[in-house]
Formats: sequence, structure tokens, C-alpha cells
Amino acid sequence: MQETTNISSLPERLAADTQLVKSYLDKIDAFQTDSLSAAEEADYKRRILDALASSGAKMVAHYYTDPVLQDLAEESGGFVGDSLEMARFGRDCDASTLIVAGVRFMGESAKILSPDKRVIMPTLEATCSLDIACPILEFSAFCDANPDRTVVVYANTSAAVKARADWVVTSSVALDIVEHLMERGEKILWAPDRHLGRYIRDTTGADMLLWDSACIVHEEFKARGLRDMRALYPDAAVLAHPESPAEVLAIADVIGSTTQIIKASQALPNSQFIVATDRGIFHKLQRLSPEKEFIVAPTAGNEATCRSCASCPWMGMNTLPTLLAALQELQVVEANDGLTNEVFVDAAVGERAMKPLQRMLDFAAANALKVRGKA
Ligand code: 13P
Ligand code: SF4
Repeated sequence: MQETTNISSLPERLAADTQLVKSYLDKIDAFQTDSLSAAEEADYKRRILDALASSGAKMVAHYYTDPVLQDLAEESGGFVGDSLEMARFGRDCDASTLIVAGVRFMGESAKILSPDKRVIMPTLEATCSLDIACPILEFSAFCDANPDRTVVVYANTSAAVKARADWVVTSSVALDIVEHLMERGEKILWAPDRHLGRYIRDTTGADMLLWDSACIVHEEFKARGLRDMRALYPDAAVLAHPESPAEVLAIADVIGSTTQIIKASQALPNSQFIVATDRGIFHKLQRLSPEKEFIVAPTAGNEATCRSCASCPWMGMNTLPTLLAALQELQVVEANDGLTNEVFVDAAVGERAMKPLQRMLDFAAANALKVRGKA
């Protein structure tokens, strides 16, 4: 099997990635809002619901966003889901304007799949460490150097990277799609998440050449701490997102996308769960199973170097004030004008990127997806 060696593993490249991610993280502090009083929060919610209703826009949110935004999406007739389901909802809903609360690649996927819809985000600054660390020029060079491989990219990438791919996958379909390609005898070039890539390669035995980036949130989960925690909660099941390191996944009872984690928490008989993913998901977990206890898997800890302990800093940029401001602008701007937080994808890039994205959605529709794990 191919090891994780490629241009993106060079020490100087990894150092450059770290610097780049850090420079993006430095921008985030400007988005921190002072906590709102209950009355202020209620006022924001009312104005947002009014603006959604009067504009006819549909809101779609990821499970990692602030619980108040998840509730707003559902209360307004929109949707909360994992990245695959968000893409599908955006494509299939009949609204002409979509509000995507999540990170940039989610807004771009919505725009690529529905080029005629207006797609707006609370802020376009909300990105993802995987997207940042997979720039199109270097990625293209990697593809050019390996022309015999089928290019499979994770959805957490730019539109340009998707346009260079044969397949786009999210964590809920990645294993099944790679298995399918392997059965067809195809060798794979995978980017950008090394942990997810390695997990798929180890599980399927596929011949995969891996890009070498990681999610800054999931990479912080620690196997040793998890083992200690497990000793404290011997009856708890461990649920992990596959962007977590291999040593963490080795301890997990269930490995899956955010939606697959939620489904496992409902299906398993355990009354306690240790969860290795962004803490935003606890809102849905707890709401669906109020009698169960959910515990955040240990990270490097709030006092350590981790800036994102089980909490994606970019997802956190979706706030009530940024959402309301985006909706207010929508109300005053003429239909043909660009909005500050409107997602644009170059038409030619979008057309190319739509093919691998659509391929993924077609595959998911045709195949019942499995959740992996020992449970
Ligand atoms: P899901 O596809 O499981 O929602 O994951 C998206 C993501 O960004 C995880 O960090
Ligand atoms: Fe990207 Fe990680 Fe945030 Fe998901 S949690 S959006 S992979 S940085």
C-alpha cells in the first residue's frame, strides 16, 4: 500500500500551511460577539425569522453552528444537516435564495449545484483548515504528477480543487465511493484530509496516494485522554468523526459523519457517549436523546496550544448579528447587485466542479450508506 508521501508532506510545505492557517485564525477575533442577553437574543431571532419569511430565502445550517442558528434554520422551514445533506437540500429546495450557515466550501457547493440560486452566508470569512491547506496550483501539480490515478477530493475544498477532481466525497460517503472505485481496479489520489484518507485506505485496502493536511479541530483529540476517560465511563460508547487521528479512531465504537454519529447515538442502547467531534453537534444529540449523557472527547485542553478545542473557530463566525446583517442587506439590494456575503463561483469552474459533486449525490442516492464501527 502507498504511504503518505507526496509534495504536500515536505516539512517546508507543512510549516507554510501552519502559518497560513494561523493567519486565517488571527482574523477570527474580529467576529467574536459579546454574549447577548436573553432579550437581545430573542429580538435577533424575531427579526431574522421575519427577514427569512419576507425574503422567501431558505436557511440551511451545519450541526457545528451555534444551536440558536440550528433552531432558526428548522423553525423557518429550512434544514440542519451534515455536509452531504446540506448540499442535497440546497439543490432540491425551491427557494431562489439560500442562506448557508456553515463554512465557505458549503456555500460554494450550494452555488455549484444551483448556479441560478443566490447563495448568501453570514460571513464569507468562515473557511476551513483543509480548504486553506490545499491550494489549487499545488494540488494541480500533484494531480499532473500522478495522471494514472482517479482524483477523489473531500468536500472541504475550494470550487477550483473540486473542478480538478473526478469525484467529490463527504465523510458520509467517502468509504463507499472509494470501495466502489477499488472494485473497478482504480488507483486513487486523495486530498486533503490525511486522517480521513488513511482511515479509508486502512479500511478498504485501496491504493491511495494521500495529500497531507488535517482539520485543526479533530486533530486535537487525544487517544491517551480518551482511554483515561473511557476508564471513567466504562459503559459509554465512543463516537468519532473520521477526521480524528488514527489512534482515536482505533478506540471508537462508531466512526461516521455528523449525521451518522447522531443516528448511532439514537440506535445504540448505551446511556452515555463520548463524542469526538465539534461540540456544536451536542445540541442535536441532546435534543434527540434527552435521557442520554454526551461527553466531549478530550483534546489538548483549553490551557494548551489548541485554539479550537472541539469547536471549529470558522463555524463560530456564524452569529446572530452576522446572519441578520446578511439578511438585511438582501432586503435593500437590487436583485442584480452583488451582496457583501454572496457566494460567487466562476461559471466555467462551477460547471466542471458540478460533475464530481453530482456524481457523489447520484452515488449516495443509489446506495444505502453504512456506518462503520465495532458497535
Ligand atoms: P460532515 O460531512 O460529517 O458534516 O463533516 C463536515 C466537517 O467539516 C467536519 O469537520
Ligand atoms: Fe474544517 Fe475542521 Fe472546521 Fe470541519 S471542523 S469546517 S474540517 S476546520
